[in-house]
Amino acid sequence: MKQNNFYITTPIYYPSGEPHMGHAYSSIIADVFARFKRNDKYKVYFLTGTDEHGLKIQKAAEKDGSNPLNYCDKISKIFKDLTKKLNLSNDDFIRTTEKRHYKSVTDIWNRLVKSGDIYLSKYKGWYSVSDEAYYNSDEIIEKNGKKYSTFSGSIVEWVEEESFFFKLSSWQERLLEFYDKNDKFILPISRRNEVVNFVKSGLKDLSVSRTSFTWGIKVPNNDKHVIYVWLDALTNYISALNFPNTNDKLYKNFWPATLHVIGKDILRFHAIYWPAFLLAAKIKPPSRVFSHGWILSGEEKMSKSKGNILNPLEIIKKYGVDELRYYLMKEVPHGSDGTISLKNLENCINSDLANNYGNLCQRVFSFVKNNCKNKVTKTKKASDTDKKLIAQTKVITSDLRNLMDNQNLNNYIKSVINISFLTNKYINDEEPWKLKKNNIEKMNNILHLALEQIAKISILLNPIIPEKSLKVLDALNIKTELRNLSFLDGQNVINDEIKIQELDILFKKITQ
Ligand code: MSP
Repeated sequence: MKQNNFYITTPIYYPSGEPHMGHAYSSIIADVFARFKRNDKYKVYFLTGTDEHGLKIQKAAEKDGSNPLNYCDKISKIFKDLTKKLNLSNDDFIRTTEKRHYKSVTDIWNRLVKSGDIYLSKYKGWYSVSDEAYYNSDEIIEKNGKKYSTFSGSIVEWVEEESFFFKLSSWQERLLEFYDKNDKFILPISRRNEVVNFVKSGLKDLSVSRTSFTWGIKVPNNDKHVIYVWLDALTNYISALNFPNTNDKLYKNFWPATLHVIGKDILRFHAIYWPAFLLAAKIKPPSRVFSHGWILSGEEKMSKSKGNILNPLEIIKKYGVDELRYYLMKEVPHGSDGTISLKNLENCINSDLANNYGNLCQRVFSFVKNNCKNKVTKTKKASDTDKKLIAQTKVITSDLRNLMDNQNLNNYIKSVINISFLTNKYINDEEPWKLKKNNIEKMNNILHLALEQIAKISILLNPIIPEKSLKVLDALNIKTELRNLSFLDGQNVINDEIKIQELDILFKKITQ
């Protein structure tokens, strides 16, 4: 992959029901990184899509009275619409029922056969349809006569059937070596430790085909078997780059992936199986897997099977898409679980968006409109108070790329909103309204710095609140080619003389 290229993926959604907040959360995180890197002049490829094979989908289609493909067409469209409603900037939306994906999965299977990593035997053990995962006996508990996975809490069933196996056990040492050499392959570090301990405790060979149902990609030369849905699904990340054509421009530019954003429930698949499959197939593994926590409803993971879903579309309708994006990114702690509620959402909108960033923009824009005919000119050198604000801003911004590169979105947002807070305070202290009559020059200087700060804050917030930040940048008349992060290296964003346009209210304060 070329330097300054950035390939980011979300987990492809199961089209097995209504989209919920967990899906929205996972996708928005990835979108924020994609937008940030684009703003930092990287060439970005951002992928999402739907994961359409396997028993779970076959069963959902049966329940719906549809054939699986018709069912997937219908539900996949709902998820595609969701990407629009969430304002995701994805470059592609892959469906695992597409031809390009079949080609890629078949090729990877053949590579695994060729490398001697696949053999035929019989699987006897526990399987969870809802997780599409195999579990060891020591990961199962019994409650009221039913068996559950201790890992996910999902119901499991006993499966005995002929199956192809992937020699995962033989990859144990090589995986540990790989984690060792790539110490930031899995973030946050707590998740990395979890994975390393799991691998150290011993890996069993993995069943990679099923014979008891048909909805999947057939094993080459053996129609009785369909390929295990996770081997199928993970491969989407390279199918979208036109693998197996490794000379393809997309593949050359963007593989290995820079970052897979995933929820902690699917960490094993991404951090153990996926690199093992790739290493065995002689393909470079991705650079990083970032595993976020769960959105909880009370104490539990929000999920369809638990019936505790907060519908992102309803929230967007009522509060707005930027508001939802901001809240989820700011409030769910980095890498951990987070409980969300409407009350917290409203508090967050009021305190950070309406009272802080929104208020800063509104007060400066309306002051400039009412007192300067929308035109501000900087004529003087920076005063000591100006210098103080500029220096404080510089200290805060110097760490922002690093925070994003370590997927620490909470601290990134806190830092940026702090710049907005400091700028509001600067205006309060400088009291430009008192200079209207006798020191227009100084007043202009204060307003100019305030506008410069607003421009910077808006560019920094752009990945999180793309819609509203663009409104501000438009009202500041900032040219598209200047809407990037070059100012982190010292440049200014606005000219000494600036003409602005009127700005409507950005965020309405919510009365509670
Ligand atoms: N199809 C698989 C992913 C295959 S990737 C090769 C899958 N799909 S999913 O629709 O169930 O989940 C999509 C994403 O949403 C995953 O990252 C999952 O972790 C995330 N979430 C689903 N419920 C969640 C919460 N309640 N909270 C946060 N994210 C969770 O998994």
